[in-house]
Amino acid sequence: MRPFKTPGLDKTMCGIVGYVGHRPALGILLGGLRRLEYRGYDSSGVVLLNGKGLEVEKAPGKLSALEERLKSHPLSGRIGLGHTRWATHGGVTERNAHPHLSCDRKIAVVHNGIIENYAELRQGLRRHTFSSGTDTEVLAHLIEACYRKLGGHPLRAVTMALERVRGSFALGVVNADYPDLLVAARVNCPLVIGLGEGENFLASDIAALLPHTRRVVPLEEGETAKIDPSGVSIFGPGFARVKRRPLEIAWKADKALKGGYRHFMLKEIHEQAQTVAAEVQGRDGGLDDVRLPGNLQRVVVAACGTAWHAGLVAKTAIEELAKLPVEAGLASELRYGDTPFDRRTLTVALSQSGETADTLAALRLAREAGSPTLAITNVRGSTLAREADQVLFMRAGLEVGVAATKTYTSQVMNALFLALHLGRARGTLPRARFLELLKGFRRLPGQVERVLERTTEIEKVARKHARGYDFMYIGRRYNLATAYEGALKMKEISYLHAEGYGAGEMKHGPLALVDGRLACIAVAPRGRVTEKMVSNIQEIRARGGRVIAVATAGDRLVASVADRVLEIPACEEMFSPVLAVVPLQLLAYHAAVSLGRDVDRPRNLAKSVTVE
Ligand code: G6P
Repeated sequence: MRPFKTPGLDKTMCGIVGYVGHRPALGILLGGLRRLEYRGYDSSGVVLLNGKGLEVEKAPGKLSALEERLKSHPLSGRIGLGHTRWATHGGVTERNAHPHLSCDRKIAVVHNGIIENYAELRQGLRRHTFSSGTDTEVLAHLIEACYRKLGGHPLRAVTMALERVRGSFALGVVNADYPDLLVAARVNCPLVIGLGEGENFLASDIAALLPHTRRVVPLEEGETAKIDPSGVSIFGPGFARVKRRPLEIAWKADKALKGGYRHFMLKEIHEQAQTVAAEVQGRDGGLDDVRLPGNLQRVVVAACGTAWHAGLVAKTAIEELAKLPVEAGLASELRYGDTPFDRRTLTVALSQSGETADTLAALRLAREAGSPTLAITNVRGSTLAREADQVLFMRAGLEVGVAATKTYTSQVMNALFLALHLGRARGTLPRARFLELLKGFRRLPGQVERVLERTTEIEKVARKHARGYDFMYIGRRYNLATAYEGALKMKEISYLHAEGYGAGEMKHGPLALVDGRLACIAVAPRGRVTEKMVSNIQEIRARGGRVIAVATAGDRLVASVADRVLEIPACEEMFSPVLAVVPLQLLAYHAAVSLGRDVDRPRNLAKSVTVE
């Protein structure tokens, strides 16, 4: 068998789940889909195998639409697959929803990814009847053709088909002739197998498996797997058997439940006192198992979205404490740019999921150029964790809300720890100052708690401004990132217009936007630039803008110039991004709720952006 072709990293952002075992599969598949819905919610579907053969149900729209249909005629079976879709090829319709079936309805496929040569493959399958406009359906027919040609062999039929496929995929296949067998394959899209007792599972990520098992085996590039109730066999290219020890995941299943909160996002905002505490625990001595390379000349941080904002904090902190120049690059830019990477450049890839396509591409570029790489990620077994030379694992636990909250503060904490230890390793951070900063770290969980106690006050501010205002978030130094992150939270879940800007840049254009309909959120805790922020606030007020400041408790100066102050406890400037972002998360949350938005599943977005 030729190795699979792996042309690029372009992927869709769907979710796959599979089950084979002794229990009715439908509830398990729907439960898994619920936990994967954040990967896409354009349509969903399930296929189950029972005495009648393969039975499929699908529905456009959110998972609840599928659940509604299944209420009137539930499907039985102890083996099946489920899929939740974020559309790329083909519109959001029922016929384009997965699973897709072969002509004889004996083979069903769910797929996450893009089949780049699907048009060409479809031409070669002229005798087959296609019933959707998706690239995925080609796989069902191609596997059917290979299965016939081989006169059986469900696993070989899949690998034979995949030899002809260009693109990226994670897929699950069921074959009506084999009622105990799931086949899985992966190229460039995440897929994990969950191990149970007399039952086994398949899913796009660990979150879907947690209620059933914490023993998982991630599939690696180009691998296929045979999954039956009693065991799992993994094969690499050339059908070589692969032995892999399962990972034990520490995440708790209840993290996938709302625990009395109205939304996952609110629950996750409130969990930050604990997650920040988890980040602090046991971090005095070093950076877990990470060994920082010596002789560094610079650092490049590669990340996307919220993780990039944490990257900006990393830049400011590493430059301050370790006196190393840092480029905090958007991974989508780095991957097509000419940033020099070399042996003396440490590349830090920051990604909650460890699966963001652009961040992985930037990491690969850096590795090819010989740069030592460090991943900071929340997910054990993720592609980023496997491919980076070293990994610093965040301790945020599972995050379900599409808008990142607790994983942002965890990323910032890890970025700060990295800066601290780089500073020590390079001799630029004196021991006494190091110890002083460690003390500051230990105070953070309690301080986060105190910010969270102010929820009601923040809710009032949010309600007042949710209608009729545009938002401008401004900050400097450590809190330029907070301004960007605050604005991102607001736009992504409330759909209100919000911009993040360097406060010092206001005079270069954005001041023209200031009028009575602009609410300006000035992130101005105590630090090197507080007075500069005060001047910027005055300039906005003088032009009729409203200013809500995030400021250190008791800061009279800021309070005297702002319309309203949201207080955070006093801390080192370096730690203020951890505290200052919390009221902004709550502000966005309450604004979105008061506008009736779907907070945990904002329109057009997905949590894991595995397509570039
Ligand atoms: C998506 C998510 C964001 C996240 C970004 C990067 O846009 O909605 O919350 O910040 O991807 O994700 P990563 O997993 O790489 O941190």
